[in-house]
Amino acid sequence: MNGQIKELTDLGDFKKIYKVFSGPPYNEKYTEEELEEIFREYQEKGYMYGAYNNEECVGMIALERGAKADQPVKFKEEKVMYLADVAVLNAYRRKGLGNQLMLYGVMQSKALGYEKLYMRTLERGSMSYSIALKLGFKQIPNLLQSVKKERVNGQVETMQNIFLEIDLNSLDRDNLKQVIKMVNLSIDQERGD
Ligand SMILES: CC(C)(COP(=O)(O)OP(=O)(O)OC[C@H]1O[C@@H](n2cnc3c(N)ncnc32)[C@H](O)[C@@H]1OP(=O)(O)O)[C@@H](O)C(=O)NCCC(=O)NCCS
Repeated sequence: MNGQIKELTDLGDFKKIYKVFSGPPYNEKYTEEELEEIFREYQEKGYMYGAYNNEECVGMIALERGAKADQPVKFKEEKVMYLADVAVLNAYRRKGLGNQLMLYGVMQSKALGYEKLYMRTLERGSMSYSIALKLGFKQIPNLLQSVKKERVNGQVETMQNIFLEIDLNSLDRDNLKQVIKMVNLSIDQERGD
């Protein structure tokens, strides 16, 4: 793979990757208009980065400035970033890209002067959970949110979500280096196959 992570500015790339959430375990239903709205919201309120393989977008991460008002979160820090979405196309999974994108999100948030990065994920079946733990995220205790989503089959389902956070102030060069080494290792393994 000849890849790089860079800013995602193309709506078509975004839509292609976001379709991941219409597959299992999410099976979420989005109209084209809804996808365009989400894209505009991320452009206005945050940052999007894509993982590109020879100019083809194969994954993305979206960050939003500030804590979300519709979530039961409270932070003492002033500068909080929300890891709103991370997704990798099926064919490119388990090669370390999710790890790399999330690490990029952590490092960008820190570089932009944020003190805390947090995310919400499914209580069960989340694929980003183990990556988050590896990167140093910790689950926020006793915090759950029931979230209603419309599925591709038209049914509305309620899922329990948990929250994870990482203190960006406590990340120093040494522990970042350690994480980067770990992420690179998983990619080298893939190249060695
Ligand atoms: C979550 C998601 C982005 C992860 O992407 P990914 O590129 O597969 O992530 P990685 O390859 O970095 O890591 C995934 C797993 O592959 C493993 N892996 C990494 N490199 C590997 C390699 N070279 N060979 C085999 N496995 C590898 C990782 O250890 C990890 O396993 P673990 O979960 O048991 O620890 C992806 O599964 C996805 O798009 N899911 C749907 C959307 C979603 O759930 N988003 C999160 C919402 S909060």
